[in-house]
Amino acid sequence: IVADKGQHQHFMAKEIHEQPMVVARAFGAWTSNDRSRIASPAETIDWRSVPRLTIVACGTAHLAGHVAKIWLERIARLPVEIEIASEFRYREPPLPTGGVTLVISQSGETADTLGALRYARAAGQTTLGLVNVTTSTIAREADLALATHAGPEIGVASTKAFTAQLMGLAAFSVMVARERGAIDADGERDAIETLSRVPRLMAETIAQEDRFAALAREIATATSALFLGRGLMYPIALEGALKLKEITYIHAEGYAAGEIKHGPIALVDEATPVIALLPSGDLLEKSLSNIREVAARKGRVAVIGDAEARAELGDEAWRSVAMPRCDPLIQPFAYAVAIQLLAYHAAVARGTDVDQPRNLAKSVTVE
Ligand code: G6P
Repeated sequence: IVADKGQHQHFMAKEIHEQPMVVARAFGAWTSNDRSRIASPAETIDWRSVPRLTIVACGTAHLAGHVAKIWLERIARLPVEIEIASEFRYREPPLPTGGVTLVISQSGETADTLGALRYARAAGQTTLGLVNVTTSTIAREADLALATHAGPEIGVASTKAFTAQLMGLAAFSVMVARERGAIDADGERDAIETLSRVPRLMAETIAQEDRFAALAREIATATSALFLGRGLMYPIALEGALKLKEITYIHAEGYAAGEIKHGPIALVDEATPVIALLPSGDLLEKSLSNIREVAARKGRVAVIGDAEARAELGDEAWRSVAMPRCDPLIQPFAYAVAIQLLAYHAAVARGTDVDQPRNLAKSVTVE
């Protein structure tokens, strides 16, 4: 099959725009026909007796795992460790008796992730592989393979594979919560109802593309940028920085907003865009005070947030783009689209090779 960009200039643009359809398909695959129950091969595990889940992955897949850690801790009350695959097995970490290890990989072939899977198996863990390529080595070697259903992803910088991973991981978190008794049947139905709104939420964010493109053109001239977020927005800030550096070659860092005063605030000057991910929720007040510290030091704060944060910051923000308001559970899907559009349009403005960025490979099969 020859992959086709359709009316888009790049595969990355096509794959960003496909996401509402992709996550809808993934949602359908994870839920029962009457939408009352999450269905997963991993429900055969006795989750009540699992002491800990260890998630291991590389790159963007690792950041999906970071989001999942927060969901699983919060919804399922399950202890979770998240690890970078290239660091994991060389420490020879002790893994708990009865533990489960989940590896996440778009390609299913990443050498370090495969090595982590083999280490976990040898250490007696039940292993799960969440992969996009279901014929891959990781899918074959894991005790249970879970599919992300993103379809082939051509752009080297991952977009739809990431949000399809998120959908799989959100559904997985709800299933584990049910199995552990952390939510009842009504709770499960409510969570499924919330997840059913993701495709529309992502489409609404994509509808703001011109606003993100305008901001991206201003960011494109910077030599360095910071992405800040707390809670679920922390891994999305990391992903925002990763996407920007991958395809624009602008130096970017993602930071937990509460941590900037311990170092990175020294980077803030009038030339450094600071992209603040500010959805409504429990952490908004705390995040706002962190962002005000940046604004007070003349940082160029670009707010990506819903009406509440944008009203609070007013003139303190240098730029601001409106996001749809949504349930905190599904905020990562919307904000993932926002940072993808920002990176994509900044790369187009800089004229880089968006789909084939220098020095990068789609799948890294060497250590
Ligand atoms: C490479 C790709 C990234 C990807 C990472 C992990 O670095 O360029 O986009 O996130 O590998 O790949 P995987 O196939 O294991 O998800």
